[in-house]
Amino acid sequence: MSTQSPARKVTITTLQKMKRDGERFAMMTAYDYCQSVTANKAGVEVMLVGDSLGMVIQGHDSSLPVTVEDIAYHVRCVRRGNSRGMIMADMPFMSYFNEVTTLENAAVLMREGAHMVKLEGAAWLGKSTKLLARHGIPVCAHMGLTPQSVNHLGGYRVQGRDPEQAEKIIAEAKQLQDHGACVILLECVPTELGKAVTDALDIPVIGIGAGPHTDGQVLVWHDLLGLYPGKPAKFVKNFLEGNPRGILGAVSDYVQAVKDGSFPAPEHCYD
Ligand code: KIV
Repeated sequence: MSTQSPARKVTITTLQKMKRDGERFAMMTAYDYCQSVTANKAGVEVMLVGDSLGMVIQGHDSSLPVTVEDIAYHVRCVRRGNSRGMIMADMPFMSYFNEVTTLENAAVLMREGAHMVKLEGAAWLGKSTKLLARHGIPVCAHMGLTPQSVNHLGGYRVQGRDPEQAEKIIAEAKQLQDHGACVILLECVPTELGKAVTDALDIPVIGIGAGPHTDGQVLVWHDLLGLYPGKPAKFVKNFLEGNPRGILGAVSDYVQAVKDGSFPAPEHCYD
């Protein structure tokens, strides 16, 4: 019999403590059992069942066609491979347009095994955040570049470059914290803004294309391994290329690079 105690499960309390202690955490997307097992072996703290699955699994040109049923199916797959990580589930496009749909759809994902849900938006999410928190559902608010609004934004563009927009993002992130958001995810913003939001909040901030100063980093599985066709975004690093230790080695190197602060490097950041 092993005398080693099993690694402790990651919870929202773990992430809060890591932020307080200045320890970085690693998140990556996972959509199936094997990805989940690999992420756990590599020490990934949070697995995101992201609506990016619309693009990387289903082959759509955006995340808009993804349904709650799609996310629920992949949460079930990921849950079966999970031993210690925290599972975050995306609330897909138009699945949180009023109080009833928000609660019902979040409940579906939590029952399937998610530990937290993620919604895209800004201060207007405050009502949903409060409502979900009141019902015991932790919320991550995804700000900055919000891919579900790609048509409104006019493309996948860096957000918060002008000082007024940057101030607005900082103020709205604080409002969401006050409305019970447990985590903020910040996508595609200048490094300086990523730092300002992280410093302004008590809750953990996860970045993707938001510079090296956020409390955690996230990458899409297919980007991390160079599997998605086409030109990768600036914030992507392929950890598999030239890696003699294969997929597990690549994911482990990503985790290590997040923790020691070597990823993202300046060439992955926006100014
Ligand atoms: O759906 C997803 O994978 C995401 C990441 C880009 C953060 O939201």
